[in-house]
Amino acid sequence: MMVEAGGLVQQRKDIMTIRHVNNKVRYVTKTIKKNRYKNRKESVVPRVPKVLQELFVSCREVFKGPGTVPPASDVKKLCSILDKMKPEHVGLSRNLEFFKATGPVKVTPRVTYTTIYQCAEFSLCIFFLPATAVIPLHNHPGMTVFSKLLLGKMHIKSYDWVDPVNSEDPMPPSQLRLARLNTDSVFTAPCDTSVLYPTTGGNIHQFTAITPCAVLDVLGPPYSKQDNRDCSYYKDIPYSAFSNGETTVSEEESDCFGWLEEIEVPENSQMDGIEYLGPQIIETSCL
Ligand SMILES: [Fe+2]
Repeated sequence: MMVEAGGLVQQRKDIMTIRHVNNKVRYVTKTIKKNRYKNRKESVVPRVPKVLQELFVSCREVFKGPGTVPPASDVKKLCSILDKMKPEHVGLSRNLEFFKATGPVKVTPRVTYTTIYQCAEFSLCIFFLPATAVIPLHNHPGMTVFSKLLLGKMHIKSYDWVDPVNSEDPMPPSQLRLARLNTDSVFTAPCDTSVLYPTTGGNIHQFTAITPCAVLDVLGPPYSKQDNRDCSYYKDIPYSAFSNGETTVSEEESDCFGWLEEIEVPENSQMDGIEYLGPQIIETSCL
């Protein structure tokens, strides 16, 4: 992982210790000597925590593929599992240097991500945001996304289209579309899981890290350019800045709406990917 002001998670059997290395944060596995005469080394693979395996098995059952949205009972089930998840379950710790960083902040801190698991139906990813880093306003076309803030303090702003009927269609450049504000709040870990749906729950959202953060995202289905589920980016403009005369938003309600304009992929959306070396899921066959 190529994030500033970090450290590393060192695993010894089931115990994690933290060490600051090269001003970076990354997952590593401790290597141990099996036979010092042959100098053979072997990585210690941490045991999968029950809750992480439970999350994987439930995702296998819940996500039925593109064009489907999990029913409320399944959403409740996944939320109850995610609400129990702690940083340690994915090989992290609040003692990691990355999360304790208090030094000067870079002008454009980069976000890092790691993928725990991905298949056609769903993916499990973790995003690491240094303080002040932003995942700019973006959408999740046709997707249901569960976000669990594992560590840190983060501002989340999200919108849904007022007219979602054509929300899957490409929007002409420079065209403003009315959106309703869903969330505009600060979240501090540990907190409950938030869920967004294809047309509700804040499908278009932005994360801004107030302190260094780690967010576990469950996406069903994942992004796929092939399946027309690419990520689009937006900038939001206050409702009061423009009015096309066709909406009936009162002055009192105007703070609950905004205009979204699709923009080119912003520079601060670039992320660094790293290999996930936390506890490994045991793949089971789909029921
Ligand atoms: Fe997102």
